[in-house]
Amino acid sequence: MSFDLVFFGGTGDLTWRKLMPALFQAFRHGKLPPNGRILAVARDDHSDERYRAWLKERFQEVDTPKRPTDEEFARFAELIFYRRVDLSQPAHYQALKSWLAERNADTAVLYLATSPHLFPVICEQLGAAGLNGPHVRVVLEKPLGHDLRSAQEINRVVRSVFTENQAFRIDHYLGKPSVQNLMALRFGNALFEPLWRRECIANIQITLAESIGVGTRGDFYDRTGALRDMIQNHALQLLTMIAMEPPSSSDADAIRDEKLKVLRSLKPFTPESVARDVVRGQYRAGTVDGQPVPGYLEEAKVPPNSRCETFVALRTEVQNWRWAGVPFYLRTGKRLAARDAQIVVNFRPTPHSIFPGINQPNKLVIKLQPEDGLELHLLAAKGTDGQHETLSPVFLDLDFDKAFPTDRVGAYERLLLDAIAGRLNLFVRSDEQEQAWRWVEPILEAWRRDDSGLRSYKAGSWGPPAASALVARDGFTWPEEQ
Ligand code: BG6
Repeated sequence: MSFDLVFFGGTGDLTWRKLMPALFQAFRHGKLPPNGRILAVARDDHSDERYRAWLKERFQEVDTPKRPTDEEFARFAELIFYRRVDLSQPAHYQALKSWLAERNADTAVLYLATSPHLFPVICEQLGAAGLNGPHVRVVLEKPLGHDLRSAQEINRVVRSVFTENQAFRIDHYLGKPSVQNLMALRFGNALFEPLWRRECIANIQITLAESIGVGTRGDFYDRTGALRDMIQNHALQLLTMIAMEPPSSSDADAIRDEKLKVLRSLKPFTPESVARDVVRGQYRAGTVDGQPVPGYLEEAKVPPNSRCETFVALRTEVQNWRWAGVPFYLRTGKRLAARDAQIVVNFRPTPHSIFPGINQPNKLVIKLQPEDGLELHLLAAKGTDGQHETLSPVFLDLDFDKAFPTDRVGAYERLLLDAIAGRLNLFVRSDEQEQAWRWVEPILEAWRRDDSGLRSYKAGSWGPPAASALVARDGFTWPEEQ
C-alpha cells in the first residue's frame, strides 16, 4: 500500500514535537508502510533540504530515547518533503493536488495540525480543489470547537466536503496503549464483566492529574480552561469506555455507537447541580517536585485577572440499568502533586465480615500514566494475632511495559498508523463529539453567569479541598487520601 501524508501546519509545534517524532518511531520500528511520502506544508519558504535540516535541529529537543542518530535521520528524511502553502490561495491547493497526483498513492492522509479556526477554510479549499476523493482522509486535531455551536459549525463544513468515514477526529488518549487495554480488559476477558455493574461497584474515579503548568501555552489555555481541554474529550472518552455496553464487534461504528449511548445517558447538569457537583480551581504559587513554581496568574501570556480554571472535579451518573446511582467522579488539573492518570473502580464492601477489624472493599486500578498497568487490590490472610486471622491489604500488580517490553507504541504513532491504514476505531465520531459538548454546555453556561465559585489551590497539592468534600459527601475518598 502506498500513502502520502500531508501535515498542514508543517512548521508548528504539534508537527515537530509530536507528529514527526511519532512517525520517526514508526519508521524506526519498521511499522511505517513502505512507499510513503510525508509532506509538510506551511507559510514559510523552505526547500525540502532546508526543511529537513530545520526538522533535524528540532529533533534535538525531543526526548533522548526517541532521538534519531544522524544516519537514521538521513534515511527518514528521504521520505520528507516541504511545500509553501498559503491556506487561502486556491492555486496552492491545485499545486498540492498536482504533487499528490505525481504518484497517485493508494491513500492520501491530510492532517490538519493547524489552529482549529483554520479547519473550515482548509476543508472548503480542499473540496473546491477536488482533494476529497474516496482515497483521501482528513485528520482533525483537537480542540474541535469551543462549545457546541462552534463544534457543530466545524462538523458542518467537514461534512459538506468529506464523508463521516473520511474524517479522523483525534483524541490522543484513545491512542494510548493503556486505553486500548481497557477494551481488552473488559471485552477480552470474562472475569470482570459480571461484576461491572451497580450491584458490585460503589463508584468510579477518573483522575487525569498533571504536574506541569500551562508552560508557553498561556494564551491558548486561558481561552480554553481545564473543562474544555481535558474533561470534554479525554476524561469523557475514558468514561465511555468504562461504562459502555459490550459492542457486537470490533467494528468502529459498533464501538462508537455504544460510546455515544453512554454520552447520551449522562445525567444532564442544571445550574443547581453545577453549583453542587462541579468544583473548579486555579493554581497559586507552590512547590512541585521540590521546585518553587509560579501561580497561574503569574504565567506568561495569562491575564493577571484571569478567571480561567486549571482544575475541575465533578460528579456525574450514567442513567441506565447498569449504572443507575453509581457516582462517576472525573478530576483533572495542572500543577497537581504528581503526573498521574488512572481510573479506580471501587467495588462494594463485603455484605458481612467474619474478620474483625478490617472490611476494606476491593478496587481495580487502571493505571494510564506514568506507568501503564493494572492493580487489583484484595485482602489476604497475613497471620493470626493469637485469637483471630488478621487480614492485610495486598494487590496484584501487572506492568504492561514489562509484560510487552518490545511492543509498546506511543499514542500518536498508533493513531497515525491507524489513519494511514483507514482504521477508525480510535477516532471520535462527530455525534460523539457533539454530544460531549452538549453535556458540558450547562457547566460553561453556569460559569459564564457566575464565576464566583472559582477556588484557588496551591501548586503541588491535589486541588481545592472542595474536591475532597465532593467525594466525601457520598462517603468516599480519592486514592491519595486512602
Ligand atoms: C492535551 C491538552 O490534549 O493533553 C494538554 O491540551 C495536556 O493541556 C495534554 O497537557 C495531556 O496529555 P498527556 O498525554 O501528556 O496526558
